[in-house]
Amino acid sequence: MDLTPADYRLVRLANGTHSVHSVAHRETFHPVIGPVAEAEALYVRQLRLPERVSAHPAGAEFVVWDVGLGAAANVLTVLRALRAGATGTAPLRIVSFDHTLEPLRFARQHAEELGYFTGYAAAVDELLAKGKVDFIDGARRIVWDLHLGDFPDWLARRRAGEIDPAPPAPHAILFDAFSPAKNPAMWAQPIFAGLFELLEPGRSCALPTYSRSTMLRVSLLLAGFRVGAGHATGEKEETTIAANDPALISEPLDAKWLQRARNSTSAEPLWEPVYRQAPLAEATWERLRQHPQFAAAAHAL
Ligand SMILES: C[S@@+](CC[C@H](N)C(=O)[O-])C[C@H]1O[C@@H](n2cnc3c(N)ncnc32)[C@H](O)[C@@H]1O
Repeated sequence: MDLTPADYRLVRLANGTHSVHSVAHRETFHPVIGPVAEAEALYVRQLRLPERVSAHPAGAEFVVWDVGLGAAANVLTVLRALRAGATGTAPLRIVSFDHTLEPLRFARQHAEELGYFTGYAAAVDELLAKGKVDFIDGARRIVWDLHLGDFPDWLARRRAGEIDPAPPAPHAILFDAFSPAKNPAMWAQPIFAGLFELLEPGRSCALPTYSRSTMLRVSLLLAGFRVGAGHATGEKEETTIAANDPALISEPLDAKWLQRARNSTSAEPLWEPVYRQAPLAEATWERLRQHPQFAAAAHAL
């Protein structure tokens, strides 16, 4: 990706906070409540990250995959929340993915207005310079790695065993691409199938994201995830959370949702990286109603 800092602008949101706007995609990162408030609601609180990291064994890494590093608001908000609210000394590994570092370079130049770089500017500078940074944050070791390149391509190569060394499987995934209509390659069903395949059985992992679209939820279910309604963020009244462990989903989608999906005009997953809207194909519906999440209820539908 050949984007330059000129492709980004700083915008002041109605609540007085600042965020980054991508001129090329005509999208503002975290457009309503701002980067920090959205990351706290969608990821820190919903994933109960301080509690999970506090309970993690001291000698074992807690691994977070950050898909769509962008201007790093999600990662830095997670780090700050863990520093303030997590106990124990389990190390944290962050694995960030993006095909451009320009939003981060741009945001770093505007660190003062954005605010969330405080205490982490040196770590971000090293990440930008070396693609990796290893530092101590409070009582915790943080290892932050960057994979620069097209994420769907990386996923395909990882599944083919071509990434060596491969990063460890995640305990949490921050999934934050641009919207499906503008960035369909990141929301195509094979992306979620690929992510699910890379999870480690027995390692509970949850993936929240800001969209609540039926198409996304069907894609996640067919990939093998359990899926639930996610927390409101102040910007969206409902989001989505997916996990390989039902215990991480507090409000699983139910038979009523399944019925609505059947009637929806926009429920069929994107099988190709091209945006379109379509109702469920008959074969997709059959797979969906056999998902273990609906096993008991689906007979009646
Ligand atoms: C909404 S922004 C992420 C905001 C970011 N999480 C933050 O906290 O500032 C979406 C990001 O996804 C990245 N992205 C979009 N398509 C991608 C692709 N095919 N491969 C890798 N990254 C991609 C964009 O470059 C952009 O930085």
